[in-house]
Amino acid sequence: MEKKSVIIDCDPGQDDAIAILLALASGEEIDLLGITTVAGNVPLVLTESNARRICELANRTDVKVFAGASRPLMRKLVTAEWIHGKSGLDGANLPDPTMPQQDQHAVDFIIDTCLAVEDNTITICPIGPMTNIALAFMKEPAIIPKIAQIVCMGGAVKEYGNTTPAAEFNIYEDPQAAKVVLDAGIDFVMMPLDVTHKALVTKERLKRLKDLNSPVGDVCDGMLDYFNRFDMTKYGFEGGPLHDPCAIAYLIDPTLFSGRKVHLDIEVLSELTMGKTVADWWNVNDEEPNAFVCNDLNVEGFFDLLTERLGRLK
Ligand code: BDR
Ligand code: CA
Repeated sequence: MEKKSVIIDCDPGQDDAIAILLALASGEEIDLLGITTVAGNVPLVLTESNARRICELANRTDVKVFAGASRPLMRKLVTAEWIHGKSGLDGANLPDPTMPQQDQHAVDFIIDTCLAVEDNTITICPIGPMTNIALAFMKEPAIIPKIAQIVCMGGAVKEYGNTTPAAEFNIYEDPQAAKVVLDAGIDFVMMPLDVTHKALVTKERLKRLKDLNSPVGDVCDGMLDYFNRFDMTKYGFEGGPLHDPCAIAYLIDPTLFSGRKVHLDIEVLSELTMGKTVADWWNVNDEEPNAFVCNDLNVEGFFDLLTERLGRLK
């Protein structure tokens, strides 16, 4: 498979952190051009410093981390400390980062990076609210043809919402941004809760990470042990869902996932169902499909890939 030139846009978050580690360990498939951060799980100042903490953990101080939007386009910032803890990375116990934050704004980094390449070159992987990407499209629409694909974690199709009864966190957080990005007409892949709620960090899977016997394995063990508690208590799951790493795993091996090309839309008008991702699975409206919506994954294949890749980080 051709190596992809990737920008990860994120709000770490323990599952974002694992997603970043998976990307950093997967140099054959992913050329990571930079990490852009956005307010989401916790405020921007923390998501940005957490991204640097994770790069340092992986000894990748060469990776450039950019701070972006500190709030959604139109709505109030809603953070998720009740899941991720006050720091966003509770359980990780990582020191303050020493590698520098980039001075450039994340939105300008996205724009400059895209403008410098041929059409259909960049893959953008949003695993938080899509505010930065929407702002970049609004500031410089000429970047849209430069993007080959968007692979995002977000949404819930048949699955219930995890932030409101109707909506998943990343889309609920900034539904207008998600709609701007979807409506740009780029090849769009969505990894909703329908998939990620199957990627559960059970005790056995957590042990495999702990048994890596490395600083990365120890940090994954600590932060996932913390992260697991919320979903196990609230939903009775056997472990926490590794939402964001599913999007990165799709970049590495899309055959691990199944789904369908459908017409997708995002609710931005009703407060009751704000941020709901409406996928026309049976094409009842007879509209042109505009997104590949995943609905299943090879769970063991996913955890084998994750464990093998994280084991490469020493
Ligand atoms: C998404 O919301 C965040 O809490 C996670 O990091 C993930 O991106 C799951 O709904
Ligand atoms: Ca996230």
